[in-house]
Amino acid sequence: MAAVLNHSFILVLLLFCCFSIIPSLQHVSESEPLVRFKNSVKITKGDLNSWRAGTDPCSGKWFGIYCQKGLTVSGIHVTRLGLSGSITVDDLKDLPNLKTIRLDNNLLSGPLPHFFKLRGLKSLMLSNNSFSGEIPDDFFKDMTKLKRLFLDHNKFEGNIPSSLTQLPQLEELHLQENNFTGEIPVEIGNIKSLKTLDLSVNNLEGPVPESITNKKNLAVNVSGNEGLCGELVDLSCDYIPLDEGQGRDDG
Ligand SMILES: *[C@@H]1O[C@H](CO)[C@@H](O)[C@H](O)[C@H]1NC(C)=O
Ligand SMILES: *[C@@H]1O[C@H](CO)[C@@H](O)[C@H](O)[C@H]1NC(C)=O
Ligand SMILES: *[C@@H]1O[C@H](CO)[C@@H](O)[C@H](O)[C@H]1NC(C)=O
Repeated sequence: MAAVLNHSFILVLLLFCCFSIIPSLQHVSESEPLVRFKNSVKITKGDLNSWRAGTDPCSGKWFGIYCQKGLTVSGIHVTRLGLSGSITVDDLKDLPNLKTIRLDNNLLSGPLPHFFKLRGLKSLMLSNNSFSGEIPDDFFKDMTKLKRLFLDHNKFEGNIPSSLTQLPQLEELHLQENNFTGEIPVEIGNIKSLKTLDLSVNNLEGPVPESITNKKNLAVNVSGNEGLCGELVDLSCDYIPLDEGQGRDDG
C-alpha cells in the first residue's frame, strides 16, 4: 500500500515538475536568438545589457521585450537606442510567436532587411532610420498577417511594391518622406481593411486612383508629390504638358 502511494506520489511529482519546467525552458531558449540579434547590431545610445543569454526574456527584466501571457516573446520594441548596422532577420526566425517589431528612430541603414521571413508579423515599424534602395516587388507576398507597416522617414526609392496591395489585413500603411517614384498602384484602394494611407512627400506621379479617392473611411495623404494629378491634389489629369519634342512630332 505504502509502495503504491509512493509510486503515484513520484509520478505526480514528475508530471508536475516536467510541466512546469517545459514552458520555462521554452522562454529561456528564446533568449538565444535575441542575444544573437543584439550582437549583430551596434548600439550607440543606451544599452541592451538586460538581454542575457540563459535568462528568461519574459521575466519582465528584458528592456523592450513583450511576451504573450508571460510565456513566449511576442514583441520587440527597441527605439531611440541609436542602433546602427544591418539586421540579420534569420536570428528572429526562432521566435515562433513574434508579432510586433518596432525599431523606429534608430540609425539603421542598407536595403530593407528580409522581414518577409517572419510570416507571423502583424506590425513592422521602421520609421525614421536610413534604410535605402528599392524594395523588391514581391517582398510582402508571404506576410499575410501584416496590419501595420511603417517605412516612413527613410530613403527608399523605386516603385511602391505591388505585393503590398495583396495584403488582406493591412490597416495602416506609412510610406511618407521617402523617394518612392512611379504611379500609385490602383489595387491599393481595393484593400478592404485599409484605414490609413500616407504617401506624402515622395516623388510619385500620374493620377491618384479613384479606388483611393472614393474609398470610405480611408485617411489618405498624398501631398508633397509634384507629379500627381486628380481630385485629391486639385489638379486635373486632362492637362498633360507636351514637351517641345513631342509637339514637333505631332505636327
Ligand atoms: C528622427 O530621429 C531623430 C534622431 O533620433 C529625432 O531627432 C527626430 O525627432 C526623429 N524624427 C521623427 C519624425 O520622429
Ligand atoms: C529621387 O529619385 C529620383 C529618381 O531616381 C532621383 O532623380 C532624385 O535625385 C531622388 N531624390 C532624392 C531626394 O533622393
Ligand atoms: C500630409 O502630409 C504633410 C507632409 O508630410 C503634412 O505636413 C500634413 O500635415 C499632412 N496632412 C494631414 C491631413 O495629415
